[in-house]
Order: sequence, then C-alpha cells, then structure tokens
Amino acid sequence: FPVRAATLRNLYHPPRRQFSASAVHSSKVSILGAAGGIGQSLALLMKLNPLVSELALYDIKGGPGVAADLSHINTQSKVVGYGSSASGLAHTLNGSDMILIPAGVPRKPGMTRDDLFSSNASIVRDLAKAIADAAPNANILVITNPVNSTVPIVAEVLKSQGVYNSKRLFGVNTLDAIRASRFISQIKGTDPANENVPIIGGHSGITIIPLVSHSGHPDISGTTLDELIQHIQFAGDEVVQAKDGAGSATLAMALAGARFADSLLRANHGQKGIIETAFVDNPLYKDQGIDFFASMVELGPDGMQKIHQVDKLSPYEENMLKRALPDLKKNINRGVDFVKETA
Ligand code: NAD
Ligand code: LMR
Repeated sequence: FPVRAATLRNLYHPPRRQFSASAVHSSKVSILGAAGGIGQSLALLMKLNPLVSELALYDIKGGPGVAADLSHINTQSKVVGYGSSASGLAHTLNGSDMILIPAGVPRKPGMTRDDLFSSNASIVRDLAKAIADAAPNANILVITNPVNSTVPIVAEVLKSQGVYNSKRLFGVNTLDAIRASRFISQIKGTDPANENVPIIGGHSGITIIPLVSHSGHPDISGTTLDELIQHIQFAGDEVVQAKDGAGSATLAMALAGARFADSLLRANHGQKGIIETAFVDNPLYKDQGIDFFASMVELGPDGMQKIHQVDKLSPYEENMLKRALPDLKKNINRGVDFVKETA
C-alpha cells in the first residue's frame, strides 16, 4: 500500500485542518546536502509528503545514489539527484519552490556551534549564490549551523544579488520546539503531542529562549524550571556527546525539518493559521542592531505572513533575553561581515 497521508499527518504533528478543495498540491522541493545524516532522513520524509511533486537532491558526495534509492518508494513524487557540479546544482535548484539546506559539517564533542563557522560559512555562502541565480523566489530553509550566522549569510548574499525577500528566508529552529514539548511532557506526565512551548531568540545555547510561561504549564518554577531550560538549551550538546565524534542530531532534526517544511508547504497551498517558531528577519530588536530573531511566525502563501510578538515575558524570561541578545548580535554580525569581506 502507498503510505497514507493520514499516517503522515500524525507523524508531523500537530494535526492540521484540511485544505480547501481548490488548493493545488504540488511543489518542487530541493535538499542541498541530501546525502548526509540529516539529508537522507529528511529526503525520506519529504518523499512521503503528498504536497511534494518533485524532490531534487544535491550533495557533493552521493546525491544520485540517495535519489535512486528513494525513487523506488511508491509515492507519486519524482526524485532526481545530482553530485558535485555547478550544472547539477543548477538543475537541482531550477524551478524549486522550497530549498532545504543541511549541507555542511556537524559538531564534535568540545565544539560550539560557532566553531563550525570556519567550515560552514563558505559552503552556505556559495550555495546562496547559486540560489540567487537559479531560484531567487524559492523559500529557503537553513539548517546548517551556526544558524544564527548562516541565515544572515544567505540574506547578505541575496541582498548583494538584488533578490532578497525577507519573507522567504527561515532559519530552522523547530528542533528546539520539538525538544521543549517532549521534555515538558516528561515533567508533567502528558502527551508531548499536546504540548507547545514557544521558542524565541536564536539556535545556540543561551540564545535559545523557551517561553515556559506561555506554555500550558506556567506553574513550572524553581530548580525544575532551571533544569528544563538547561535541558532545552543544551540538548544538542547532549547528542553530540552521546554520538562521541560521529556527529550531532540527525534523526530528530530530520523530523523537525520535515515538520517545518510541511507546515510551510501547507501554508503555501492556502491552509490558514499555521504557526511555527523560526529564526527570521525580524523588526523586534533592529533598533539594537539585531536584524534576525526567532519568533513564532504565521506562515502563508508567500512565506512568512506575520510575526507573532510575545508581549509579556516573565522576569525569568526577560533575564534570559537580556543575556541572549549580545551573543545573538555577535553571531549575526559575524555572518554579515563574512559576506562583506569575502564577496
Ligand atoms: P553530515 O556531515 O552527516 O552531512 C552533511 C552533508 O553535507 C554531507 O553529505 C556533505 O557531503 C554535504 N555537503 C558538504 N558540503 C556541501 C556542499 N558545498 N554542497 C552540498 N552538500 C555539501 O552532517 P549532518 O549531521 O547532516 O549536519 C549538517 C548540518 O546541520 C551541520 O552544520 C549541523 O550542525 C546542522 N544541524 C542543524 C540543526 C538545527 O537545528 N538547525 C540540527 C542538527 C544539525
Ligand atoms: C542541535 O540542536 O542538535 C543542532 O544544532 C546540532 C548541534 O550541533 O547541537
């Protein structure tokens, strides 16, 4: 039997409303870095997504093999794969509605995400240049770390090419939201599927700001709250340690990327009221020189439709925010400066 959409709805959680009958469900989705730890599982999940009509996979190593393998899965989408070449990258990107970028190097124990900058900044910059040429109108979902810097890198490249659309660029921090709902459910003995903890800020350490006061459990406090926040903020490090040199989160990340992609595809196809956390071009702290900030964003046919600003933080959250902003600013500026210096 083909995989049934209903099964996927459950997998992607949270459950969604149905589309209007007039919606057209077909999108070309590309994955850059598709043969990696995240890329392969993400490609599998996108192959199962009924909103995808074509899946284009690019990797400097192994793209065609992953595509051949996935192409046998009995869902309707066409799968193509390309290896390292400018024309392969252009073929992948041409006509893409959505581009997911997990290309790059993952952490090893002892490294911060920022330590990945020297390897990953140029990879993301060069992929962004290719996107500016071949698919300037696509939604771009950046997974590669350090997200706080790689998203500004993509923005700067697109600006330099005159094709920047702030509503179509997303840093994917969905994994923080998935983790938060899981960890809070473990404290409260609830079903994580029913838990929702808004995440703001960025995607590294103390820049990850979970808003427990806006979850279903604002009563969590004291050391329980301290430990929960620490767990969410440093969950990535936990996985890096456990993998012991073999990389960082791939499976939960693939699910997180697939969930965000699915949410955006649904919104693109007309479904209303879809809200996810994302690291986006955000007016909130621009007066402090911080152009990107993760907020809960409502997705729509043209990408980001509305930023839902959280108006009332608890004193605990205000304090987290105060500590996060200087780091965030540094991370963003590093990305912007890199493009200016190496253009
Ligand atoms: P991986 O090493 O398993 O896979 C990366 C893939 O990228 C490899 O297949 C590699 O060949 C490919 N690649 C490298 N340079 C490329 C280029 N120029 N063009 C196309 N492909 C290229 O790593 P992974 O575990 O999949 O992690 C990938 C990235 O995602 C890392 O930077 C990691 O830190 C990040 N990550 C982000 C989150 C998040 O929440 N945003 C979560 C987990 C991991
Ligand atoms: C994560 O949150 O798991 C990722 O950002 C990968 C990492 O390096 O921690």
